[in-house]
Formats: sequence, C-alpha cells, structure tokens
Amino acid sequence: MRKNIVAGNWKMNNDLPETEMLISDLIKQNQTSDAEVMIAPTFTNLWQAFESLRQEGIEVIAQNMHFAENGAYTGEVSASMLKSIGIKTVILGHSERRAYFNETDESLAKKVDAALENDMRVIFCFGEELADRKSGNEEAVVESQIKNALFHLGADAFKSIVLAYEPVWAIGTGETATPEQAQDMHAFIRKTLADKYGNDVADEVSILYGGSVKPNNAKEIFSKQDVDGGLIGGASLKAEDFFAIVNAF
Ligand code: PGA
Repeated sequence: MRKNIVAGNWKMNNDLPETEMLISDLIKQNQTSDAEVMIAPTFTNLWQAFESLRQEGIEVIAQNMHFAENGAYTGEVSASMLKSIGIKTVILGHSERRAYFNETDESLAKKVDAALENDMRVIFCFGEELADRKSGNEEAVVESQIKNALFHLGADAFKSIVLAYEPVWAIGTGETATPEQAQDMHAFIRKTLADKYGNDVADEVSILYGGSVKPNNAKEIFSKQDVDGGLIGGASLKAEDFFAIVNAF
C-alpha cells in the first residue's frame, strides 16, 4: 500500500528562534495520524529541527541539495552532508528552484541519481505553468518533466521516490487546482508511470498535490483516489493549520 504523506515546505522562512518556536508548537499539536508527516526547514536549522523532533515521529527533510559528493561548489550542500546530520529525504525540482535557480530536467536527473546513490528518499516536484494549462498542454509538460528527470531509472528506484504535482499557477497564489483537476492529473501521472514500469510500480508510488492546500480544502483534495497527500507551503508555517491539513486524512 502506498503511503499518505503531508510535507511542510518552509521555503526561506524562519530563523533559528522562529524555527524553535514553530517546532514547539508542532510538538504540542502532534498526534498519531494516518499520514507520514515531514517538515523542510532551511539548511541552517535542519540539525536543530532534527534533534528536537527525533522522538516525535515528524521527519525533518531538506529543500534541495547539490548533485556532487563534495568539491568546489561554493554555497552548495551535498547528500552526504545531509545524511551526516540524519536527513534522509530531500525535495528536488521545486518550481521555485527551476524558475529562480536555473534547475533543469538535466541537472535534476543528476540530483535524483546522487540522492538515490546515497540511499536518500526524493520528493520530486514538477508541474505546468498557467500558460501551459490555458493552451491545454499541461499533460505534455508534466509528462516531459517526469520522463526527462526520472525515466532513466530502474523500477526499483521508485521505492525511494515520491512525486509532487505542483501546478505553478497554484503555488502561493491562493488559487488551488480543483479536486477534479488534481485527480485527473494524478491519474495521468500514474498512467505515465504504469506505461513505463507497469501497474505494480505505479500503484506503489505516492503522488502528492501541492499548491495553496489549506485546512478548508485539504479534505476534499486528499479524498481523491490518486492523491496521496500534500506538499504544503504557506499553511505549513502555522502549526495549527499544518496539523489541520495532516488530520484531513
Ligand atoms: P503553497 O506552496 O502551499 O504556499 O502554495 C506549495 C509549495 O510550494 O510546495
């Protein structure tokens, strides 16, 4: 059975005192849930977050990493560095990384390889822009993002991959895909996987939806058959809202 996952992407928010405060709020709200719960603070606060949440069943994950193991890459962080502080999962390919930091399908394929070589789990993000949807190209765009960055992998690799469909027009805009739009795209994504790797592989991959998921719309989105959870930006910065979303399962 594939897993339900709710992951909070804090983006470039929360300094150390703010991180400590939000984590203590999360611990107060924490309760057993049907979903795996994760948060992704900024690099400088990963260790603190990891230490504080060790016993809480909330996984601390990274927002990005470089593909090289080490070397002359000023400002970058490698998989082995993340692993050395206990981080086992990394978000790759977020649309903000693609848009502002020139991440391409090609560089993302290398990052995915590096993460898997280091036995890390990947939350791989992709999604169309508004113009793609308006011109009816959303499936073609999503298909090429998945194929270009992931389809060199063997079927086994998908045990360590979670997909996150995040339509760019819904991120941080307050405009959510309708539950039907999310379901249609998730079913298309699963079919794309099944065509290449077979139904057994496709059925086991968790596909998250991201883009303005809030406490008031999470339940309906998560109730869709092919939606296995969410990647939550803005609403993950308040413990109460984040857990209201987690508890939508
Ligand atoms: P949002 O961000 O929930 O603020 O729209 C989602 C994301 O970027 O992962």
